[in-house]
Amino acid sequence: MIYLEKNHFIGEGEIRFCYEHPLNDQFCVKIPRVETTRDYTEKELKYFKKLSKRSKVNFQFPFYADFRQEIDTNLGLGQVFDLVRDETTNEISKTLEYYLTKDNSIDDNKLEDALKILKKQMIKHKVFTRDLRARNICCRIKNDGTVELVIVDGIGHRDFFPFADWFYYFSKKKVNRTFKKWHFDSIEDQRKYLKI
Ligand SMILES: Nc1ncnc2c1ncn2[C@@H]1O[C@H](COP(=O)(O)OP(=O)(O)OP(=O)(O)O)[C@@H](O)[C@H]1O
Ligand SMILES: [Mg+2]
Repeated sequence: MIYLEKNHFIGEGEIRFCYEHPLNDQFCVKIPRVETTRDYTEKELKYFKKLSKRSKVNFQFPFYADFRQEIDTNLGLGQVFDLVRDETTNEISKTLEYYLTKDNSIDDNKLEDALKILKKQMIKHKVFTRDLRARNICCRIKNDGTVELVIVDGIGHRDFFPFADWFYYFSKKKVNRTFKKWHFDSIEDQRKYLKI
């Protein structure tokens, strides 16, 4: 059993709360809200289990925060995931939403490049998301000045026929559709979308 305290809190969404792991700063622990069903959590973990059978050796960088294990906490059963930290400061990386709405310290063209790379990785490695929102993507600042976009929530898909899991052609179509749906064809599109 681990103890999560207020000072470990990182952020929250509609589904769960996110805390820094008190014993390992490379991980976070997510605690589902009381309204979140166990079924919801299990579906998500099932997809991570499927991904875990694939090799990551050809990943350009870890472009999604991977699931590690479930753990008992003082706040109930939690799920341990990789925690995204900036390479420059070792601080917990901020989300893309943060950089698009509250802090313009990263050039748009840097984010645009990072977005292209993220998309390529998702297509190539057939990793999909149902929830490609700016608040579910962390911006990992690197020592060389570039940014890596890491998906921290929403990994998975609901397709009954998983053609996109098998063929590059369908994977590309699916990822392109997701980017369009969530207004990520450009950073400019996303900025406009967030203003609505
Ligand atoms: N692996 C991570 N590394 C760094 N920060 C994270 C990580 N996971 C989550 N966060 C932060 O915690 C917030 C909430 O976590 P998360 O998105 O998992 O909750 P959620 O309830 O599933 O969100 P949503 O409302 O989008 O469904 C994120 O928006 C992000 O700011
Ligand atoms: Mg979220």
